[in-house]
Amino acid sequence: MAEEAVLGFLEKNEEISDSGQFAADRGIDHQELTNIIKRLSGFRFVDAQDIKRESWILTEEGKTYAAAGSPEMQVFHAIPPPGISLQELQRKLDPSVFKIGCSQAKKNQWVEMGKQLVTRKVDNVDDKVKDLLNRVQDGEAIDPKELDALKRRKLIVPQFRETSPQSLALNDADCSLEKLSRVIIACGMATILIVDHFLFTFLLRTWKGYSVRKGPNYAPKRKIFTTDLTRDNLLRGDWKDLEFKEYNFSAKGQPIEGGHLHPLLKAGFEEMPTNNFVESSFWNFDALFQPQQHPARDSHDTFFLQVPSTTKTLPEDYVERVKRVHESGGYGSRGYAYEWKREEANKNLLRTHTTAVSSRMLYLLGQQKKFTPKKYFSIDRVFRNEAVDRTHLAEFHQIEGLVCDRGLSLGDLIGVLNNFFLRLGMSKLKFKPAYNPYTEPSMEIFSYHEGLKKWVEIGNSGMFRPEMLRPMGLPEDVRVIAWGLSLERPTMILYGVDNIRDLFGHKVDLSLIKKNPLCRLGME
Ligand code: PHE
Repeated sequence: MAEEAVLGFLEKNEEISDSGQFAADRGIDHQELTNIIKRLSGFRFVDAQDIKRESWILTEEGKTYAAAGSPEMQVFHAIPPPGISLQELQRKLDPSVFKIGCSQAKKNQWVEMGKQLVTRKVDNVDDKVKDLLNRVQDGEAIDPKELDALKRRKLIVPQFRETSPQSLALNDADCSLEKLSRVIIACGMATILIVDHFLFTFLLRTWKGYSVRKGPNYAPKRKIFTTDLTRDNLLRGDWKDLEFKEYNFSAKGQPIEGGHLHPLLKAGFEEMPTNNFVESSFWNFDALFQPQQHPARDSHDTFFLQVPSTTKTLPEDYVERVKRVHESGGYGSRGYAYEWKREEANKNLLRTHTTAVSSRMLYLLGQQKKFTPKKYFSIDRVFRNEAVDRTHLAEFHQIEGLVCDRGLSLGDLIGVLNNFFLRLGMSKLKFKPAYNPYTEPSMEIFSYHEGLKKWVEIGNSGMFRPEMLRPMGLPEDVRVIAWGLSLERPTMILYGVDNIRDLFGHKVDLSLIKKNPLCRLGME
């Protein structure tokens, strides 16, 4: 960005006369700009000349004026248009502001100090002093005359830096005039302080910037240098003409982010992309053969979005097949025999289950020319417009999984689920026949909670219906076993948490979380 600004400016202009001003005008950090100028000058894209100037800092008085305005301005503001008596004006202001402000305002011809009344001479004035002080604070270049005026008013002082190399202990032998003068010369603009036979030198701190002009290699855009020498470069012999980027030994490496395998990953499951909390009703419900008047689609159970309220794009020919299967069935089904409405499918919502993601993934699988078996999983958040209690939250997490292959059966599903929970240390499982619009058969999964002394539902599962799979384009003999498990419920069972609100959400029990070890080695 800043590099483009520099090169772009030089395309149309002779020179950047002051990098400090250039940076300030464009809101670029000056340090960043000088780094870029140094780099460009290293490549001889630009010629840069150092500019140094004394660096000034504001005195305490200067700082108050930089913030609150100069005393003359404060005086000016304290005078109402009809004028004010001197006593009244004095009462309104801090004594030193009053004193200095009156004399400066008079000098500037801003005010008339009459015997009875103090009045404004002009309608508007600029607080140049405040402006200058702020510019000094920002390290900008300032006209020497104006700098001088601020100096005389003791609003700014030079910034000094103690330089230790030139500091030395003075013993009688050392303290020759000759030696001292050498030190002074070495220090350049320096202030010398001798305390207890120690010589301290204070160098004036200088502000450093650049003036910049086009260099011999100037181009409006810098070409990217080659970073890697490849086998092809060697074979073609073009390495001779390549310009290589200099090696940056101080570059930071890529941050390392975790590195743990999810057990499902190791079992050959691929993770589904779940990075969209907002979903259309179509993928969340319609694609799953959930009829449009199903109670779960009611706003009492689902959070619908107001903005943006509808989805923009859906795959049209697939939408047509979904509409048909809802209205009149097909693939051996009679459908629901109702009028399917596109507007209902377009409505955006916060996904109520991660099965919305499964439906997108299966649709993509159905688009492949040749079917390939897949195992998918995801763990992410879902939302339900539900009353919150010990075991329910309106926002929780689901572990979703599916296996898509020819010839799968309910036995495979029970086997996978048993195995999964056994590895989590939960062997007391029950499966109960259930109903989902998109699975047949369907099973709810229960596990025994020792604390609550009851069977708790921990998930739902089933085999996806042909009414869902066939419109997606999946072959007739392909079966999909699938499950959606709560992440919170098994965690409650494993860790003996009897209120889901202690585990997740705004009422989470921080002390419970802090009691946990920072990391866990192996299975507990
Ligand atoms: N979507 C179901 C739920 O939220 C879980 C489920 C997933 C059921 C896959 C069957 C198949 O409860």
